Amino acid sequence: MKTQIIKINDFSNLSKNSDIKKAGDILRNGGIVAFPTETVYGLGGNALLDDAAHKIYSAKGRPSDNPLIVHIAKPNEAENYAVTNDCYYKLAKAFMPGPLTIILPKKSTIPMSVTGGLDTVAIRCPSHPVAHALLEVAGIPIAAPSANISGKPSPTTASDVVEDMNGKIDCIIDGGDCEIGLESTIIKLDGEKATLLRPGAVTPDALSFICESVEISPAVTQMLKENEKVISPGMKYKHYAPDTPLILLNGTKDNILDFMHKKSAETNCVLLLFSEFIPQFKNSKYIDIGSINSLPEQAAKLFHALRLADKIKAEIIYVPIPKQEGLGLALYNRLLRAAAHTIINV
Ligand code: TXA
Ligand code: MG
Repeated sequence: MKTQIIKINDFSNLSKNSDIKKAGDILRNGGIVAFPTETVYGLGGNALLDDAAHKIYSAKGRPSDNPLIVHIAKPNEAENYAVTNDCYYKLAKAFMPGPLTIILPKKSTIPMSVTGGLDTVAIRCPSHPVAHALLEVAGIPIAAPSANISGKPSPTTASDVVEDMNGKIDCIIDGGDCEIGLESTIIKLDGEKATLLRPGAVTPDALSFICESVEISPAVTQMLKENEKVISPGMKYKHYAPDTPLILLNGTKDNILDFMHKKSAETNCVLLLFSEFIPQFKNSKYIDIGSINSLPEQAAKLFHALRLADKIKAEIIYVPIPKQEGLGLALYNRLLRAAAHTIINV
């Protein structure tokens, strides 16, 4: 299949842009379009069509029991697809459009293929101008997982998407790099009570201003036991993983730096380094993961860094373990999965 690549250079008047209209037509007619969001690139299909969901699963190589997020242009469109409540609207007022996905009981308008057979549906209203224009122009809800091959890090640049999806889908919209770089926060709502299934840029603290309680699912920070039942099917799959084994380093800053110096002198490894430490590792193989003082910068860089680290063809990748606070919880969660929970105390 030939994949059409559309580059967006002018972000004004996007809903009048003829290329976005073309992409909207493809979606309405059951085709698959990758598009940028503020979190990561999505692999979109018409959420009302069974067939589009099958095409998405097949392009990703994803098990079809792992449900897709339904993207909408405006929070109140959720009425058509889900059973909402007051808390949904309070959260929508605070965080939508933006990087929050809310799981609610589903209505029959959404096919079971989209929700992987579950009777709930994940709803998200993205803030990226291209995603928003595409939703408006297409006039349908868009089912979209991250636009990576299943098990790979989510794509945060158009070139990451081309790497994984060229020749497999109808169209890729290149809208530049994703600002946040980690996937949306996912919560399941039970009345006013939220369960955090995937941490993201909307933090538990921020949610707790609105929800009666915010419980963090154990799967966010812990390894699942064999055959353990999970609320979110995505939690049970190995995720975000580079091909090269990745190891998290836990310890003081000085101990981590000593360990990295030793390993890079003795072995064929890649270091994921905070920008501040790069000058002392000039002769090592490394990838810059942003300033030690900026969690948003680290989040924006992480997935692309994992892809770059893989291309270096080393035997091992080392990375300092993030603190589990604020946006750090999301970084910690993604790295834990990328490392398949392998941590060395140094
Ligand atoms: O930021 C994001 O959320 C991106 C952009 C494209 O919107 N999307 C994304 O989708 O990360 P995906 O499919 O890669 O991750 C969605 C996760 C999966 O782990 C899936 O299992 C879970 O959400 N999920 C979706 N629907 C669910 C449901 N009804 N109940 C429980 N978990 C659900
Ligand atoms: Mg994904």
